[in-house]
Amino acid sequence: MRDEWRGWQEAAQAALYGDDGFYRRPEGPAGHFRTSVHASPLFAAAVARLLVRTAAELGTADVDLVDMGAGRGELVTGVLAALPAEGGADLAVRAYAVELAARPDGLDPRVEWCAEPPKGVRGLLFANEWLDNVPLPVAETGADGVERYVEVRTRDGAERLGAPVSG
Ligand SMILES: C[S@@+](CC[C@H](N)C(=O)[O-])C[C@H]1O[C@@H](n2cnc3c(N)ncnc32)[C@H](O)[C@@H]1O
Repeated sequence: MRDEWRGWQEAAQAALYGDDGFYRRPEGPAGHFRTSVHASPLFAAAVARLLVRTAAELGTADVDLVDMGAGRGELVTGVLAALPAEGGADLAVRAYAVELAARPDGLDPRVEWCAEPPKGVRGLLFANEWLDNVPLPVAETGADGVERYVEVRTRDGAERLGAPVSG
């Protein structure tokens, strides 16, 4: 059987977001590590204040909140809960959680769960700890001085340098 090699982007995509990928597990990211979202309700309260300020700057009481890479919706749930105490009692908030994983059971029904960012929104888009989870190619300079894509062996994660970087 021949070894299968693929680029880092493809390998990370499969490991994180494939059918049995890390971020699709039922326990969610919070089952493995904490972010500011899980560490304290102070964080959601601060984002709630930011949403109130955003609505004021937009001159509206009707505002959208988009949580990009929402985990299991912990932040958006916390912000909705914190709004009344943070000066947002009169705001009409449409809350969206954008996530590749499935909607968790029992999530606040006010939260719309979507796989893609909603179009035409006006308000605050928040993406906490998202960019460090976007699969990208990895390149290294080879012994020959040429920048080459790093390839990963599917079987065991061994690495080798592949084709020169292009494009
Ligand atoms: C490190 S977790 C952060 C979760 C949460 N924002 C927090 O701070 O606790 C990154 C999340 O982004 C999600 N994600 C990654 N790429 C995404 C994409 N293209 N669209 C939607 N969600 C994405 C992952 O499934 C994962 O739940």
